[in-house]
Amino acid sequence: MSELPKQWQSVLPHLGHTLPEDVAPPSSGEGVSVNLPMELVRQSLSQREFWDIPEPVLEQYRRYRPTPLWRADAFARAVGARVPIYVKYEGGNVSGSHKFNTALAQAYYYRKAGVTELVTGTGAGQWGTALAAACAWFGLRCTVFMVAGSLRRKPYRGTLMRLLGATLHESPSPLTEVGRAVSADRPGNSLSVAIGEAVAYAAERDGCAFAIGSGETYSILHQSVVGTEALDQLGALDAKVDAVVGCVGAGSNFGGIALPPFAAAVREGRPAPLLLAAESSTTPKLTRGVYAYDRTDSAGRGPMEAMYTVGSEFAIPDSHSAGLRYHGAAKLLSAMRFHGQIAATAVGQADALSAAHTFVRTEGVLPAPESGHALAAAARLAVDGVRDRDADHRTTEGVLVCVSGHGLLDLGAYDQLLAGELHDEIPDEQLIRLATANLGRPR
Ligand SMILES: Cc1ncc(COP(=O)(O)O)c(C=O)c1O
Repeated sequence: MSELPKQWQSVLPHLGHTLPEDVAPPSSGEGVSVNLPMELVRQSLSQREFWDIPEPVLEQYRRYRPTPLWRADAFARAVGARVPIYVKYEGGNVSGSHKFNTALAQAYYYRKAGVTELVTGTGAGQWGTALAAACAWFGLRCTVFMVAGSLRRKPYRGTLMRLLGATLHESPSPLTEVGRAVSADRPGNSLSVAIGEAVAYAAERDGCAFAIGSGETYSILHQSVVGTEALDQLGALDAKVDAVVGCVGAGSNFGGIALPPFAAAVREGRPAPLLLAAESSTTPKLTRGVYAYDRTDSAGRGPMEAMYTVGSEFAIPDSHSAGLRYHGAAKLLSAMRFHGQIAATAVGQADALSAAHTFVRTEGVLPAPESGHALAAAARLAVDGVRDRDADHRTTEGVLVCVSGHGLLDLGAYDQLLAGELHDEIPDEQLIRLATANLGRPR
């Protein structure tokens, strides 16, 4: 029986390089507005490896952790895998995804810092749901801006957030200048607009702070419970893996599952496992983007961070995996990619949902469309290997893959799969070049 980790583990001391510092946005007359509890700042910057998880957060984790890990032999057989595939499943909590792991920690730290309301932007809805639940548990008000296309497709995510006590707005909304500046029928309405609205909304209210679900180094730290637990569970099964796979929106579930095995290998002087990031082919920042300073949100109020990006102004094609439609990858993961520590592959939604379809029929769990990207990439790796940056990546021992959430509120997407109506819109190279042309490169 595996145990709930009592500490989060930071990869920062094991990187062998430091992250490029953030810079102020060029248009910021007011300077950079950072409104973070000190503990989250420390968790993002310190070289300390282990961080005690506060008891009130542990108490909440105990309701749904440890999460299951199993050897998915039926799925592996169905896809023709040459090696075992181990699945770590994060969909079994009220939010339906891994996002709850950091939502609980953030609500705890903001509450301790005297904040009374948290506001956020959400794509697929899992982060909004996670924050709504965490706010309910820790006694905070919660306001959520959700990407309009996604909310229309998944109205029940909105119902769940409201049941948990959150106030919900469709984004782009008329409530903020950021929302008003974007036409509601623009097809590329995206998570960075919803985030921009939340940032603007928080800036105008006392006691209100903007919380972000992924991308920040502290949220990746909180997600380390996933990888730490998985290592313990693999040990109990006497299982060996030489590759770890997760999907990437901004990167927190991938960081969560992949960085503890990376850190363990560095600490023990072993070669690190292959870390394979599966992104959406609609938002190919890691495989086709540039490494540059970009905004984390459309409002551009936060600092500019060094990231692989397709450009925060890029009109991302529509897809069912709203959680992956984020223009950039976390600065931590981007720096690791820059230094050759992370491989990446882009997956189309038709392949992703087909892999998820195979998974529910073989393993009895319906993955979120986002998680389908990780399963498709894991299957690719376990069958033929994956080519990235002119290198062939293979696995000889086994693959660990994170199924970051469930797809029970994504049945509309699966209906389209069954009807053969799923298509992939691949962004034009020229548009990516245009959206990234004026971004400064980290030195
Ligand atoms: C189920 C699920 N998986 C993955 C993601 C991508 O986020 P991240 O890359 O931060 O883990 C999301 C984001 O909403 C999600 O809901």
